[in-house]
Amino acid sequence: MQEAVKEIRGSYALGVMSNDEPGVIIAARKDTPLIIGVGKNENFIASDIPAILSRTRDIISLDDGETAMLTNSDIKVFDSGGKNIKKKITRILWNPKKAEKEGYRHFMLKEIFEQPRAIEDTLRGKLDIDNGRIHLADIGLSPSYVRNIKKIFIVACGTAYHAGMTGKFLIEKILKIPCETDIASEFRYREPVMNKNNLAVIISQSGETADTLAALRLAKNAGLKTLAICNVVGSSAAREAHGLIYTHAGPEIGVASTKAFTTQLIALYLLVLYLGRVRKAVSREEAKKIMTALLRLPHQIRTILKKDKSIAAVAKKYYRKNAFLYLGRNINFPIALEGALKLKEISYIHAEGYAAGEMKHGPIALIDKDMPVVAIAAQGKVYEKLISNIQEARTRKGIILAVATAGDKLISKIADEVFFVPVTSEELSPVLNVIPLQLLSYYIALYRHCDIDRPRNLAKSVVVE
Ligand code: AGP
Repeated sequence: MQEAVKEIRGSYALGVMSNDEPGVIIAARKDTPLIIGVGKNENFIASDIPAILSRTRDIISLDDGETAMLTNSDIKVFDSGGKNIKKKITRILWNPKKAEKEGYRHFMLKEIFEQPRAIEDTLRGKLDIDNGRIHLADIGLSPSYVRNIKKIFIVACGTAYHAGMTGKFLIEKILKIPCETDIASEFRYREPVMNKNNLAVIISQSGETADTLAALRLAKNAGLKTLAICNVVGSSAAREAHGLIYTHAGPEIGVASTKAFTTQLIALYLLVLYLGRVRKAVSREEAKKIMTALLRLPHQIRTILKKDKSIAAVAKKYYRKNAFLYLGRNINFPIALEGALKLKEISYIHAEGYAAGEMKHGPIALIDKDMPVVAIAAQGKVYEKLISNIQEARTRKGIILAVATAGDKLISKIADEVFFVPVTSEELSPVLNVIPLQLLSYYIALYRHCDIDRPRNLAKSVVVE
């Protein structure tokens, strides 16, 4: 097996058995996840944790170039040179029930409703409100290194990239550190200019996305410190980055990422607060204020989730439309992109997210009486601008679905539908504004009888390029 895998090009995760040696599995992997489940008088290989969670919580993550030999009573792992090596056993704390639907029609709906708890779990143990301090035990960055960071790169794919875009606003606005955000498949080929005093943050729910891992390795090889925001314990990203912030969203089974996204945002707020306090860019009082607002988010999300039937009713009016336009500005521009991605990936309706200020530079030509325009019109410094974008769309007979802040008296006069969210700071508003958009896409896909948890052509973790 070790000789054979030297002949293989590309990525693989293999389990090999032979009639000559019954009861033995030989496993090997490269650039594709493969875990070993350590059971009682039984051992397993699988590509992901939920597959074996009902039999064991103890896993060994095989690394590239390693080979494993399993029987029901023994596990041996060999490095690429054939030396028998010791591997750490990681205990997965997920509750196996969590990997079930628990009465929900789809995993995606369950995971949308799990967001308050997922955010509470991600915040748990991190906030020292009295002293305005953030505890990030695995961040792996010394105070002197943190004080010397001159630039931050945030690299990810898909929904995780949208979280990273939000992070950029927070980093530049609060920390005054230049921040570049990149789609991983672009970052790895554009020859980014990186220096040793730059921090590379990669965001990945699975921790196994091929392009994101390649970006992580590119930054590491360039001598940067790397930090992974990840949801899967023991994943490749979690093991290869210098530092870690785990989201505690629990297993996300639905292909469309929901609770992973909002907990990635929470992890970014924690990172910004942590860096801000060490660099004295955030005062103790400011930190306490933000922490208090963070702790309110789970309850505020619950109030939005209570309106899911009214959001379903809106979905029922527009699920037959063939194209949607999502508009947002500033820190909510990434939410426009995320709302559009949610809709397109589970309902197969063409949906575009756009910076609202770009309307006159092209997309306004799309708008007619059959085009729903979803506008994120949260209170904030660009609210007036967004209102004028909505009016432009209305003039072209567009159907306006607006996400707005509770208490907004104007929006109902200019929008056909309004999804109100509770009042929070502009910086935290993305966490609330995305919730109605998740539910809207879910119910539209439901009315279109789509395979919501397993949309066509998509995989939960894109482990190949
Ligand atoms: C999001 O709904 C998609 N499933 C997809 O864009 C996903 O966010 C992307 O593939 C990144 O996955 P990761 O977070 O596991 O790296």
